[in-house]
Amino acid sequence: MNNVPKHILAISGSTRADSSNAQLLRIMAALAGDRWNMTFYNQLDQLPHFNPDLNRGNVPEQVSVLRAAIEAADGVIICTPEYVFSLPGSLKNLLEWLVSTTLLTDKPTALVTASASGEKAHDALQLVVGTLQARFTPATTLLISGVRGKLAPDGHLTDVPTEMALAQLVDAFTVLLSR
Ligand SMILES: Cc1cc2nc3c(=O)[nH]c(=O)nc-3n(C[C@H](O)[C@H](O)[C@H](O)COP(=O)(O)O)c2cc1C
Repeated sequence: MNNVPKHILAISGSTRADSSNAQLLRIMAALAGDRWNMTFYNQLDQLPHFNPDLNRGNVPEQVSVLRAAIEAADGVIICTPEYVFSLPGSLKNLLEWLVSTTLLTDKPTALVTASASGEKAHDALQLVVGTLQARFTPATTLLISGVRGKLAPDGHLTDVPTEMALAQLVDAFTVLLSR
């Protein structure tokens, strides 16, 4: 049973078509090989703004889709840039839709912040996702500063230490997924 690929839901905090964060998620999927089966959540820009009034009874369809995708996943990877010294609003909005649920409780999670600098967003990401009681360790978190300078136009990583750090995160997350 250990050889069954783990189903990973990948969430990019950037809605940009040419996002470096989305590219890093593809690189992680390649590094994991047949250990993971990755699904990309690609509806971040279609989620309605969180409103507690909409969070009673039948929630909006896009929220149901998000919640079902998280529930079906063995683990979740969030890879995000920093916007104005914090999380991008659209990612924070997604996380707000999870506050009243237990969907992330004990869910194996990897948290990558890839940005120009990114320290504050990385702290915020760990604070918010930790508040939602997701399961992550220092080995399944990674801050990649100066990300755009570390990716070639064709999308491959040009920075060997970053590639090694991502490979280590993939290994650590695979271990966390099997615990
Ligand atoms: C509105 C906006 C605000 C930004 N603010 C920050 C910031 O506070 N800190 C930072 O490190 N980078 C900041 N950046 C730069 C992003 O880190 C950079 O554009 C990154 O590559 C975006 O990720 P993506 O390539 O996945 O879209 C900002 C970019 C935008 C568009």
